[in-house]
Formats: sequence, C-alpha cells, structure tokens
Amino acid sequence: MTLSRPQGSVAYNNTGRVVLVSGGASGIGRSICEAFLRSGATVVCMDLDDRAISSEFKGIGFVRGDTSRDDDCRRAVEFTVEKHGGLDVLVNNAAIQPPASYVPLDQLPVEQWDRMLAVNLSGYTLLARQALKQMLRQQSGVIINLASGQAHRTARHVPAYGPIKAANLMQTRQWGVEYARQGIRVVSVSPGAIDTPLVRASLEAQGGAAQLANRHPIGRIGRPEEVAAAVLWLSGPDASFITATDLEVDGGLGAFGAFADPYPLPENEK
Ligand SMILES: NC(=O)c1ccc[n+]([C@@H]2O[C@H](COP(=O)([O-])OP(=O)(O)OC[C@H]3O[C@@H](n4cnc5c(N)ncnc54)[C@H](O)[C@@H]3O)[C@@H](O)[C@H]2O)c1
Repeated sequence: MTLSRPQGSVAYNNTGRVVLVSGGASGIGRSICEAFLRSGATVVCMDLDDRAISSEFKGIGFVRGDTSRDDDCRRAVEFTVEKHGGLDVLVNNAAIQPPASYVPLDQLPVEQWDRMLAVNLSGYTLLARQALKQMLRQQSGVIINLASGQAHRTARHVPAYGPIKAANLMQTRQWGVEYARQGIRVVSVSPGAIDTPLVRASLEAQGGAAQLANRHPIGRIGRPEEVAAAVLWLSGPDASFITATDLEVDGGLGAFGAFADPYPLPENEK
C-alpha cells in the first residue's frame, strides 16, 4: 500500500510543553511524538521497544517500560517530571491486537485476553494515575486516550479488542468529569484503519483484506500523521472546551454503518 505524505498541516506551537507518549516507538504513537517535537514540545516516549533510541528518533526522550506495570509507569512519569519540570500532555497510546486474538470468543486463548486487558485497559489507568499526581500539582494537563472505531461498533472476531477498547471511552468520560474543575481535560481519539504495523498484522490475520480501504467512504485507510494532527489539536488551547468525549478520525467509516459492504470472509469460511 503506498500512501503519499499529507499536503499541508497547521502549525501548532507547543514550545515549553512537556509531553509523554506511551507506545511512541511505532505507528501512530511515533507520528504523535514527531508531530509534538516539530511543534516545539519536549517529548518523552515510553515503550517496550528500544528502537525509539535509534539515531532516526533524535530529540525524543525515551523510557523503556511496560505500561501494564505500575512501577514502570511511575518511573516514566517521574523521569519526565524530574528531567523536564512538569507534564502537560499524556498520550495513552500503547495497545496491542495480536493476530492470535482474531478468533471467536470460545477460541480465544485466556493469555490473549489477560495481556490485552493488562496493556489496553490497565495500562491506560496505571499511566494516567501516575500522570494525574503531577497534573493535580500543576492544576493543568491534558490526557488523550487512543481508543478505536472498534470501541464504538463491532466487527467479527474481535472478542477482546472491541470490548476493551470500548472501556477506553468510559475511562475518558470518567476521568474527564472527575478532573474538569482542576484544569485537566481528558479526550479520546478513535481512529479508523490507519497504516501501521498493528493494522498490517490484522490484515494478515483476516486474510489480507485489501478491500479495507473501500470500507472507508474517503476511499483509503488513514495515515498515522492524520491521527497525530487530531491529537495535537485536541491537546491544545483551541480545544479548551472539549473534555470527557471522543473524536472519531476515520474517513467516515463509522457513519457508513450497517449498510456498508459485508466484511470479506476468510477463504476457509466462504
Ligand atoms: N492502526 C490502526 O488502524 C488503529 C485503529 C484504531 C485504534 N488504534 C489504536 O492506536 C494506538 C496505536 O496503534 P498502532 O497501530 O500505532 O500500534 P503499533 O503496534 O504500530 O504500535 C504500538 C506501540 O506500542 C508499544 N507497546 C505495546 N505494548 C506496550 C506496553 N505494554 N508498554 C509500552 N509500550 C507498548 C509497541 O512496542 C509499539 O511501539 C493503539 O491504542 C491502537 O489500539 C490503531
């Protein structure tokens, strides 16, 4: 799949802001790190994968850690605050959707459920919990949770990812309401299919469904930079009255709904 670069983008000025992004070594998280860096922010990436410290990732701080571990989350926030003096934006982005999880519920290995629950749900709570300690001291901050179109509507064979992503929407509402009077906003972003390693793995798991692009009314899947642009806007002053809600960044996929073409069945199920 060939995707051209975006034609243009609004210039945000995030000079002086400190941003922590989980899962920033790859895909959408990586684009979010790069976009914040370009806009002048100080960026720290927390990831299991240390490719973020390679030379092509210059200028971005890195903490190796697993978001499903409370100690690692505490370490990532403490590193960020001690080194950079505060924490203005947390992006809860690290999540997994292993190919082996694309099965009906009765065939779902319990380890897949446990790991997705630990990373995709507990990981967001654990990192936000640590970040909030600093944001409450500052009486300011923004938390952006990466949810998914699959948080809003079902697909076949996502018995873990779908329900767990739906819980990210409720984390957003709960925390948004809880901390609204303390200068802290919480917003989620629900992407449609975006060209990242996670989606490429899912396409392989579902029989290489090239038709996925056509299910998006815009006629293509999205680019990581297009999600990053939404995250930058939502975390900035122009979105100051937006909290405890979700923005779908999906090329119209969600609105297509029940009249969309049926999802192509794997060969062995036709
Ligand atoms: N790509 C899409 O089409 C799509 C669609 C909807 C939602 N999303 C959501 O967007 C976010 C990013 O997805 P992506 O496609 O860029 O994924 P990706 O697989 O390309 O990148 C995920 C990153 O998270 C890191 N990671 C995984 N588990 C971790 C852990 N426990 N601790 C720390 N880091 C960890 C990985 O090492 C990787 O760098 C996820 O929340 C995903 O659910 C993606």
